[in-house]
Amino acid sequence: MLLPPPSAALIPLFIIASYNPLNVYQDAAICSDSYYGAVGNSNFFWVDRQGPCLKYLLSHDPQFTSIHPLRLLEHRSGTSLFWLEREAVDESLSLSAKDELFEYLVELEGLNAPSLSEGQQPLNTGVGSAIEVLLRGPDALLLRVDLQRTPILEVPPPRLWKAALISDSPVPFTPVPSLAVDRVKQILSKVKFDPLVASVVNNISVPQLKNDIRFLTGEDGKSGIESRHSFSDGILVAAEWLKARMEDTGATCELKPFLSGFGPNIICTYAASTKTSETVLLSAHYDSRGSFGSTRAPGADDDGSGTVSILGIARTIARRRVKFRTNVQLCLFAGEEQGLLGSRAYARELRAAGANLTLMVQADMLAYRAPGEPPQLGLPDIIGSPEVTQLVANVSAIYSPELSVGFTPACCSDHQSFHEQGFPATQVFERAGPIADPMYHNSGDLSDREGYDFGQLKSIGKVQFATLLHAAGFFIEEDDE
Ligand SMILES: *[C@@H]1O[C@H](CO)[C@@H](O)[C@H](O)[C@H]1NC(C)=O
Ligand SMILES: *[C@@H]1O[C@H](CO)[C@@H](O)[C@H](O)[C@H]1NC(C)=O
Ligand SMILES: *[C@@H]1O[C@H](CO)[C@@H](O)[C@H](O)[C@H]1NC(C)=O
Ligand SMILES: [Zn+2]
Repeated sequence: MLLPPPSAALIPLFIIASYNPLNVYQDAAICSDSYYGAVGNSNFFWVDRQGPCLKYLLSHDPQFTSIHPLRLLEHRSGTSLFWLEREAVDESLSLSAKDELFEYLVELEGLNAPSLSEGQQPLNTGVGSAIEVLLRGPDALLLRVDLQRTPILEVPPPRLWKAALISDSPVPFTPVPSLAVDRVKQILSKVKFDPLVASVVNNISVPQLKNDIRFLTGEDGKSGIESRHSFSDGILVAAEWLKARMEDTGATCELKPFLSGFGPNIICTYAASTKTSETVLLSAHYDSRGSFGSTRAPGADDDGSGTVSILGIARTIARRRVKFRTNVQLCLFAGEEQGLLGSRAYARELRAAGANLTLMVQADMLAYRAPGEPPQLGLPDIIGSPEVTQLVANVSAIYSPELSVGFTPACCSDHQSFHEQGFPATQVFERAGPIADPMYHNSGDLSDREGYDFGQLKSIGKVQFATLLHAAGFFIEEDDE
């Protein structure tokens, strides 16, 4: 790690640190004015060179990806920083898929300068243009964008890259409080096989999962849904349908808009049977994206699979007349593909309201199984609360022993938004390794295809559901005939 030359001594430093659980910085109130949040696997700090935060970071986490002199945004009002980061995908996917970074940059340039000529390198732009490249490495790119002149969020990012705006102002550090961690540990310590839990979670219906996914992807020819992209008409059809189906199960649901132009979040609640503020939350994202330049975005795996898992859990709650001791929320977020926008809005709202969230588990991509591989459950290697991840691993061993459990570097679904707000959170994913689905971020992401495994989808759904039953506590309502 090299500090930049002293000639730049007066310019603050922009630091990109590989993602660490924010607890690493638990005592870092000293950096609270210097933290600019996280995108993907990267944390951003903007530090005064003479200030105490730089010293603190150097002593606690010298593993910075990079350090750059960069003037604060005040100097360039109306601009924002935009981060692109390569996703963790299996070699089979990175070798077969075309890297669309070049096309993407050309398209951005097109918005900026329609006359890009043949052979011209994209983004040779300088100060004063709508898009300026500040850093360019093999796996990451930092742009400065003029949001008035570039509708950057409307251009789909390259298929195997994550992209999002970096906050314009410092973001508070909100580590998960130790009391909340203790509560999760307490739940974990009490988890043991419960035949009633097994009977309830085994009742998730595979034929129902099939029907539900075929509606959401448009494969059944009934819904008319072509796309569940956050800006599409299809996502609004999906939102109304999901809300109605979840309400059929006895939940109280709300469509909550979070940003104009985006489909809404769907927030469904089952009220506690006891007097408590405690809430356990399960979620998935129901928006999707397709191939570059295509309007079809069926998203059967990403994240139709997580969405129908949540719906399948809701349907089973109703069928088996489950009543929870604590409050339970089942949430379906939108805007995930544009940088966790729906879940960030909702997690922020819960934090501001002082919500008492015991834990949350996000389901993102549950159904794809590569040829020759056993059914699996992937848990996040870095982002999330290790205690919740451990709980989910143990629950899996008890109720879905058919799954091989391991870690995945597939990064950053909506659980990151909750973890950032200091809520205990984790994710369930389809593979103990990087993303291998050949239809990832592709218009061919349908449920009727090789490798789309409803058995694995149900097995992971059982894990999410059993975690909920153990964490929330429940009983079965008696027939009142
Ligand atoms: C979780 O599972 C592991 C592996 O089976 C086991 O060693 C550990 O004791 C379990 N944790 C608890 C709290 O039951
Ligand atoms: C779920 O339970 C219902 C009755 O409680 C039963 O009719 C149905 O066959 C069960 N389904 C599965 C998949 O176990
Ligand atoms: C959350 O609920 C538990 C159980 O009712 C309670 O002990 C705890 O104080 C609550 N925490 C907050 C932050 O409200
Ligand atoms: Zn996803």
